[in-house]
Amino acid sequence: MSFTPSRLLIFGATGAIGKYITEAILAAKPTFSHVSIFTSNNTVQTKPELLARWKAAGVPLSVLVGDITNAEDVANAYKVEKPDTVISALGRGALTIQTKLVELAEASESVKWLFPSEYGTDIEHNAKSPNEKPHQNKLALRKYIRENISEEKLKITYLVTGPYFDMWVNAKANPKMGAFEPASKQAYVIDDGEGRVGFCTMPDVGKFLVAALRHPEQSFGKALKVQSFVVTPNQVLAEYEKQTGGDKWQVTHVPLKELEELETRAWAEGAGNATGFTLRRIWAEGGTLYEKNDNELIGVGPNDTDSLATAVGRALAKN
Ligand SMILES: NC(=O)c1ccc[n+]([C@@H]2O[C@H](COP(=O)([O-])OP(=O)(O)OC[C@H]3O[C@@H](n4cnc5c(N)ncnc54)[C@H](OP(=O)(O)O)[C@@H]3O)[C@@H](O)[C@H]2O)c1
Repeated sequence: MSFTPSRLLIFGATGAIGKYITEAILAAKPTFSHVSIFTSNNTVQTKPELLARWKAAGVPLSVLVGDITNAEDVANAYKVEKPDTVISALGRGALTIQTKLVELAEASESVKWLFPSEYGTDIEHNAKSPNEKPHQNKLALRKYIRENISEEKLKITYLVTGPYFDMWVNAKANPKMGAFEPASKQAYVIDDGEGRVGFCTMPDVGKFLVAALRHPEQSFGKALKVQSFVVTPNQVLAEYEKQTGGDKWQVTHVPLKELEELETRAWAEGAGNATGFTLRRIWAEGGTLYEKNDNELIGVGPNDTDSLATAVGRALAKN
């Protein structure tokens, strides 16, 4: 099928990663003829400046207010806006709702392509993946799509980005997950800090999504694995030291075994940061490493993504 996405509808557009995705789409101006955002009344009330700025960005933009859990609201959005491509960036609390969004997209007259909310860890990486707790809702959606959605009617693409570098360096919940603290020049790294991790910066997630939109044939039916850079925690530390005057930082090595124990305890106690512990353990175990990523497949070259130096500079500027 020869297809060029033109009318986009975004769910979760103003969320943590949705914001970067929407900004990148709006910055790609002439590429898309129309962009619609389906959002809650709460977001309209709490983020008016952001929505006003986007409306002034020069791309025809509709903001639809509705309830994501109400099938009628969603079906109506598809009917009125006639998107050919739907991008979901819904948060973890809304992942299961996506089964309905997908079902309605397949039944709609206009939607040809849909990106479910992923933008994270490769949930089908190895033999342990099917049992990882944080993966369950995303795995269930992939299963539902495999078993129920006709590829002829609706193309699906999952954008698999690995951890966001911007969040990874700043483990607010517990520094033992791995953290870099410029104010006290302290770092926490897992084991000897030599385990490589593949990252995306949050602005690059938006860039990769737009690159995928520009390469439909290459993206249809795939879980695209994209990365800004692959580095070790020790390389990250060296970059922080370089950009903070050259002094050596104080380093705490957290054994992987200790991270696993913290993870087990967090799940047993029903702690809010349990998901974070599991994902950090997966990343430390090599869960973001591939023989080859898909950057090139969607036309993203080595100089098109943020470098480690840029990402650390940005993180320092935020502190
Ligand atoms: N790779 C990483 O390091 C990483 C880190 C964080 C998240 N992620 C992934 O990125 C995706 C998006 O997560 P996020 O953190 O960006 O999302 P988020 O900010 O928590 O939420 C995004 C939007 O989803 C909508 N939403 C509606 N009902 C919701 C509900 N019950 N719970 C949560 N959100 C609801 C809201 O938008 P409206 O008000 O407009 O409806 C909200 O602004 C997820 O798949 C997540 O797993 C990856």
